[in-house]
Amino acid sequence: MNEQMMNQTQSQSLFLKEILSSLSEPQKKISPKFLYDQKGSELYQRICDLQEYYLTRAENKILKTYAHEMSRLIGPNSLIIEPGSGGADKVMHLLLRLNRVRAYIPIDISMTSVQSLVKNFYQRLPKLEVVPLVADFTQILSLPQIVSEHSGKKVIFIPGSTAGNFPPEEMKKLFKHYIDMCGGEAAFLVGIDLKKDPNLLQLAYDDSEGVTAAFNLNLLSRLNRDFRAKFNPSEFYHQARYNGDEGRVEMHLVSKIDQAVNIDDQEIHLRKGESIHTESSYKYNIDEFCQHCGEINLRLRKYWKDPEQLFCMYYFETV
Ligand code: AVJ
Repeated sequence: MNEQMMNQTQSQSLFLKEILSSLSEPQKKISPKFLYDQKGSELYQRICDLQEYYLTRAENKILKTYAHEMSRLIGPNSLIIEPGSGGADKVMHLLLRLNRVRAYIPIDISMTSVQSLVKNFYQRLPKLEVVPLVADFTQILSLPQIVSEHSGKKVIFIPGSTAGNFPPEEMKKLFKHYIDMCGGEAAFLVGIDLKKDPNLLQLAYDDSEGVTAAFNLNLLSRLNRDFRAKFNPSEFYHQARYNGDEGRVEMHLVSKIDQAVNIDDQEIHLRKGESIHTESSYKYNIDEFCQHCGEINLRLRKYWKDPEQLFCMYYFETV
């Protein structure tokens, strides 16, 4: 068994443990990172093109309009680190503008995403040094050696509202961890969704074509395939709820019937109407988000909104 496969097997059993433990909490949960197998990643790409899912459109508009300004703030000879890079279509706007990028470090849990990213980058930016990492970006303990060897600026790029998947306290811990792994000094270019009319939020996560429903339900097929679970996806339905107290949209998979489901050698019981919480997407006003970042010594240098004021990108640096 080669090293890669061994790591795969190890993380597989850790993931199974994580899934079983989160399914035994009073509010059953499954981490959103499991939504992104190959099919899930494809469905997410389709979500990004939906009329109702304004996030991607708005953020791309911001990037296209202001990438030159972002590049000026970042400066030359920087190193770009992208946790949860996925298809990495957004970072391209930036990389094409930046002056003498030292290297680009994409980190993604999906092997297929990383493979196609590397191929794509080799074609489009053959001179750029790409140092990919196939890993759960919330779990890594260190960054590739090139990061500690680099004396210039290190920029953590987190677009797509990915940071909004974490409760604020966890998001801050994660940011802090990346700052530490960068040696205490880092910059953040973060795109995150703004609070807005709950009806618009609801529609963005429960589209009329049912793509988001398919994305959510695909999680069950994924668990069946990779973790020997015995879910019947047709016995669940997709639900999106805006939780105003927490400032987040939640995706749930609701059981249509009383049922028992086997996973590995455990049995999970669900009552009719009981749900598995599969994702939270936190929404922030600008002052709320800056307040959180201020608490971990990140100072705002600049922010940019799209013309419709739906989405915001922020540039912070450690003080
Ligand atoms: C990729 C996590 C930012 O939360 O908006 C899209 C994923 N979930 N539709 C988000 C998602 C449902 C998306 N993120």
